[in-house]
Amino acid sequence: MALREHVELDLDRIDGLISDEEAKLEPKHRASLAYRSVAERTVAGGVASSWQDSPPHAIFIERGQGNRLWDIDGNEYLDFHLGYGAMVAGHAHPKIVEAVQKQARLGTHFAQPTKGLDAVGENLVDRFKLPLWRFCNSGTEATLEAARLMRAATGRSTIIKIEGTYHGHHDALMFSVAPDPELIGPREHPVTLPQAMGIPQAFADLVRVVPFNDLAEVERALAEHDGDVAGLIIEPAMMNCGVILPEPGYLQGLKDLLHKHGAYLAFDEVKTGAAIAYGGAVEAFGVVPDIVCLAKAIGGGLPCGAIGATEDLYGPVVRGEYDMAGTFNGNPLTMAASKACLTEVLTKDAYVQLNRVHATLEEGCGAAIEKHRLPAYVTGLGAKGSVIYRASRVREYRDTVGIDERITYLAWLFQQNRGVFKSPWSKQETWTTSVFHTEDDAGRYVENFEEFAAAISG
Ligand SMILES: Cc1ncc(COP(=O)(O)O)c(C=O)c1O
Repeated sequence: MALREHVELDLDRIDGLISDEEAKLEPKHRASLAYRSVAERTVAGGVASSWQDSPPHAIFIERGQGNRLWDIDGNEYLDFHLGYGAMVAGHAHPKIVEAVQKQARLGTHFAQPTKGLDAVGENLVDRFKLPLWRFCNSGTEATLEAARLMRAATGRSTIIKIEGTYHGHHDALMFSVAPDPELIGPREHPVTLPQAMGIPQAFADLVRVVPFNDLAEVERALAEHDGDVAGLIIEPAMMNCGVILPEPGYLQGLKDLLHKHGAYLAFDEVKTGAAIAYGGAVEAFGVVPDIVCLAKAIGGGLPCGAIGATEDLYGPVVRGEYDMAGTFNGNPLTMAASKACLTEVLTKDAYVQLNRVHATLEEGCGAAIEKHRLPAYVTGLGAKGSVIYRASRVREYRDTVGIDERITYLAWLFQQNRGVFKSPWSKQETWTTSVFHTEDDAGRYVENFEEFAAAISG
């Protein structure tokens, strides 16, 4: 259903605007461009992670403070990128700095348990309603353990995942993340497409892909793999192709369906956890899954990850039959930052302010969309939000394939040239806000967006 009458966007005009904005941006990033060639001498591609190299070029950062960021050219930005959503606590929060400094003086790593564990565990139980937790160092590790836990508990091999979700860069789940529309196959049987070179087909054979927001397709997958589905992993609100919210009843329906088939439900809350609400998607949508995977926002800026699960699932780990291990798991520096972040910074009150800022962004961008009759709408919750460039609501990944990447790239360039740093562009425009972001900051974002909306609508 179309939301309202809208203008047809002129892509030639958008191409012209992209050239103008790129030309304006390039001189501002001379130091980044020069340093890139220095880094390239010893670091593959000149960046530490391939996704730090996004068009038009990698931008090297000098420092961050609160809601702001400075690049090595000295440009100052309001930061709505926030380290891919990890810095909901903001940059260099004094409580986190203090906790890290204190722990650093006492030693940063022992690979022996420390007394930092229980405060974080207790806080995560309160937020996500699962009784037992383990810690790791990234979202990738958390989802890797989730898949393995579900397989260990059931003795089954197949994992169901949702088309268009990302769960990290390991071989068990790195399939159909942003799959090529030419290759995705029929909706009722999506092809399980590796998202990186070097993943053997044997791994793909263990993963069944289904569309988001469709219980009937999960039922079909469960019937077709009868007795062999260990569980389903899902971003409860999709956050890696814009923000796509679950429809009412969908998450509870998934849980019921999977349990009926003796399989488990894992929420990948790496992006939603402690970001869209105090208790992440568990609180926002009122469903407690069997496993919750966390990372990003819970660590206050240190490498972090956590896996929460039921006592039943953790049974083999507790009994010592399943080794969930890692040299840096429960690292004292991370635990100190995490404790300060969860108990002193991302308190329940913080989400009141995050929602206020979200409302300003949603209303402001929504009004600009309305005024310029753009085929777009705003969505999101708490610290996360997105403008989706489609006239009707997106329910699943396939609804996004017709969205032209040039529109979101231009939206990114407009903000970048006007002092707002957003996540490296993707098909949708997404933002994260922190506890330091104010309604004035949201106003600045909206002002830039309004200028962009006027430019593309002619
Ligand atoms: C939903 C989701 N899961 C897992 C990951 C992987 O996390 P990490 O990059 O910390 O390994 C990401 C990263 O963006 C993510 O968005």
